[in-house]
Amino acid sequence: MTSLLVDRIGELVTNEPGGRDPLAIRRDAAVVAVDGQIAWIGPTGGAPACDVRVDASNRAVIPGFVDSHTHLVFAGDRSGEFAARMAGEPYTGGGIRRTVAATNAAPDTELSANLAYLQRELTRQGTTTFETKSGYGLGVDTEARLLRIARGVTPETTFLGAHVVPDEYKDRPDDYVALVCGPMLDACAPHARWVDAFCERGAFDADQSRAVLTAGVAVGLAPRLHANQLGEGPGVRLGVELGAAAVDHCTHLSDADIDALAGGDTVATLLPGVEFSTRSPYPPARRLLDAGVTVALATDCNPGSSFTSSMPFCVALAVREMHLTPAEALWCATAGGAAALRRTDVGTITAGASADLVVLDAPSHVHLAYRPGVPLVHTVVANGEIAYQQGNS
Ligand code: NIG
Ligand code: FE
Repeated sequence: MTSLLVDRIGELVTNEPGGRDPLAIRRDAAVVAVDGQIAWIGPTGGAPACDVRVDASNRAVIPGFVDSHTHLVFAGDRSGEFAARMAGEPYTGGGIRRTVAATNAAPDTELSANLAYLQRELTRQGTTTFETKSGYGLGVDTEARLLRIARGVTPETTFLGAHVVPDEYKDRPDDYVALVCGPMLDACAPHARWVDAFCERGAFDADQSRAVLTAGVAVGLAPRLHANQLGEGPGVRLGVELGAAAVDHCTHLSDADIDALAGGDTVATLLPGVEFSTRSPYPPARRLLDAGVTVALATDCNPGSSFTSSMPFCVALAVREMHLTPAEALWCATAGGAAALRRTDVGTITAGASADLVVLDAPSHVHLAYRPGVPLVHTVVANGEIAYQQGNS
């Protein structure tokens, strides 16, 4: 049995559901983790002794971030594409094929090393749970290879064979969809929890996306969808209709899309790093929240549309650019991400939850948005163990 105590917490964000304040903040608190789970929460003075002690010295403690949308298994660099965009080129998704070529040419060792490097970035910025996906292979063996590598670092793996139609299928996209729904799915399903498609003009239409998600569900995968990134379209409503855990991007939404989300239990995952890095308008987050939709914030970390691994940066963008309060943004980046992954064991600091928490080098969670770009992660505890400590690695 291993136990860890974090005490002298000035502000403890628990996200415990049921109260009036969604963050359910406690003051002058302590948390005990035993064997990777939260075992006790109470006042600092009453905490039992543990094997390991972290003195928070009146800092704020928050649940570990849950980044429910990333694309971390890839090779190559697209900084030139970013620079061209900042000089006025639009983002079309066309660069995905460049990453596909670089990824297919890279050996497993290179992909695993890149992934480990990015995973370290995530951890150092307070992320303790993350989803990641295939989608830069676009062949039967290569998609399975990416998922096998991803499975080595997270249980939240997503099959995204339907990312774009590869060049060799450009005149017969339905043949590619048949490949994705057949042999590619068979090869990938053992390594995946989720099935996804990029439902967008220039990628896959509603019928094609429906075929992919339905085929995935038939072999036991759970659906999620990239939708309404580049323009309005059927994606968000399709996701709700198919019971997707989340529809991701939601940059361009009609009233009907918002009504559909409000009437279902699909989470709207907003990825403001994409709008920042593609110089696009931000999603209508306030309208979603005011309609009662559950919102998640995620990085979409990928080499094309959003090469940030920083949840604190996304929180700051959500507050500054999408008019969330700092409290709303933090909830969306923790409990919201957990809802987008249909997880009840992460995203909160409550008894029985996974002991994943972040000591901020700040007295309050508000500093995440108030001090943008400043490395405020002091200590990260993941599964009850210290995963990172400022100055120690
Ligand atoms: O989520 N939208 C589709 N896929 C990624 C972008 C991938 C890329 O540009 O490489 C996204 O933004
Ligand atoms: Fe994405």
